[in-house]
Amino acid sequence: MPLDEAALETLGLGTLWVRRGASIEPEPAQDDPVAQPEPHAASAAAVSAPKAVRTPAPRETARGPEPARSGAVAPSAPPAPRVKPEPPVEEPAWDDSAHPHAHAPLALAEPPGAGAAGGVVTLDWASLEARVSACERCRLCEKRTQTVFGVGDRAAEWMLIGEAPGENEDKQGEPFVGQAGKLLDSMLRALSLARGDNVYIANVVKCRPPGNRNPEPDEVARCEPYLQRQVALVKPKLIVALGRVAAQNLLKTDASISSLRGRVHRYEDVPVIVTYHPAYLLRSLPDKAKAWVDLCLAHDTYRQVLDKGQAPL
Ligand code: URA
Repeated sequence: MPLDEAALETLGLGTLWVRRGASIEPEPAQDDPVAQPEPHAASAAAVSAPKAVRTPAPRETARGPEPARSGAVAPSAPPAPRVKPEPPVEEPAWDDSAHPHAHAPLALAEPPGAGAAGGVVTLDWASLEARVSACERCRLCEKRTQTVFGVGDRAAEWMLIGEAPGENEDKQGEPFVGQAGKLLDSMLRALSLARGDNVYIANVVKCRPPGNRNPEPDEVARCEPYLQRQVALVKPKLIVALGRVAAQNLLKTDASISSLRGRVHRYEDVPVIVTYHPAYLLRSLPDKAKAWVDLCLAHDTYRQVLDKGQAPL
């Protein structure tokens, strides 16, 4: 199965997944800021490893693809846990654990003077991007440096949807450019995917919430037509919802992330797999193994869509 071992290493799963017969380097992954996986994380190794597949189609890419490495892998005995001090993470404290203040997203009626989202459903990419960059439909426009529209392959089969831009994204205008973004890139590499190559990345909300707070329900509601249009234009075969806030808002639920994981949902009739937010995974090592299980489910679902044209619910 093609798997990028370096990417798994970065996910903290490298010592659980090794090439058959290969020796295990005891050094921790350089990028991994946290401890190696707990023994119970070995359950992730029991899941079939994804195989990169891509149906031929012309692609518009924002970044060049990274080379994917391949090699047969098999689970090894889990290593003794090692703990490294956690470096500072510039992302906010996204918390994907059960959240006492989790709220059900609201589908709000348009308040007077909110600014119309009218006609978004007919916009092409250029007009949609221009509309987003000029958007003043909610208070988030007041403090943003710039909008963060989305990045990647606009004809991608995979669409990853996060919560909202953080500080770095607000400065650079691109989703997931901080530490969490590096981890996200590793997660993609572990699937033999890359940002910009058959992958499009966007957020539920296009402007940074001040202080990196969670977006408010009305902010999400005002921004949703943009995401809906992005999904309609990309026409992905699969959506991966990154984190609780993205998942709850896409799926219109206040269910916990743990209850949403492990099954196929739908957004705009596209199959959706829920996994943890990469910023949360930077701080929660055991859940990295669960995230790998989610990615394997995502890949299996994607294959089913390719094979049958439809993913089971
Ligand atoms: N977290 C998100 O959800 N999105 C980003 O773009 C960056 C961090």
